[in-house]
Amino acid sequence: MKNFTLAVLLSIATSSFAGTISAAREESAKWISVETADNTTHILEKRVGAEVVTCYNTGTRVDRAPSTSVIDDFCNNRAIGQFVANGHTLYSRYDYGSFTIFVSGSAINGCSFTIDGNCNRLLRLPLDGCNTSGENGKQGGYETDLCGQWRFDPGSNGSDF
Ligand SMILES: *[C@@H]1O[C@H](CO)[C@@H](O)[C@H](O)[C@H]1NC(C)=O
Ligand SMILES: *[C@@H]1O[C@H](CO)[C@@H](O)[C@H](O)[C@H]1NC(C)=O
Ligand SMILES: *[C@@H]1O[C@H](CO)[C@@H](O)[C@H](O)[C@H]1NC(C)=O
Repeated sequence: MKNFTLAVLLSIATSSFAGTISAAREESAKWISVETADNTTHILEKRVGAEVVTCYNTGTRVDRAPSTSVIDDFCNNRAIGQFVANGHTLYSRYDYGSFTIFVSGSAINGCSFTIDGNCNRLLRLPLDGCNTSGENGKQGGYETDLCGQWRFDPGSNGSDF
């Protein structure tokens, strides 16, 4: 009934107005809700200079497509340009209903930084560098370097595991 009503509404809308509505619906269909916050960092691994990827290899598995969608939304729409002080974590948790995807960037080791375009690249390291046997079945992990830690962490059932 809802769909029928919407179809009628769309059919009487002008074509440019209808285009705006369908674009908005497609965007919101990706996930149900997003929680974003700044937190005090919980450092998972001690200081290293190189970019080191640690894979969880356990827990909820997700496909690559929603994962890149989440990473790019987090970086492009919420993170890039944000200042992260030493010891803080900027994170978002995207709720898809049957699973969630947690992504974050932390400033560690006395560093503070303004997030730049490396966000998209660094968060793809634990996506593409873990569970490499296929495109999907991604269980996530985190990247650590001298100044930061970037975490890509699928979860479900109310936890990030
Ligand atoms: C927020 O900080 C607390 C205390 O440092 C930590 O236990 C918790 O895991 C952090 N949450 C996130 C989402 O990083
Ligand atoms: C989440 O809960 C459902 C239903 O209880 C279960 O089938 C599923 O395996 C759980 N997922 C994980 C990752 O534990
Ligand atoms: C993810 O990769 C690890 C290491 O290769 C493997 O042990 C694990 O079973 C993989 N998980 C899935 C869901 O394929």
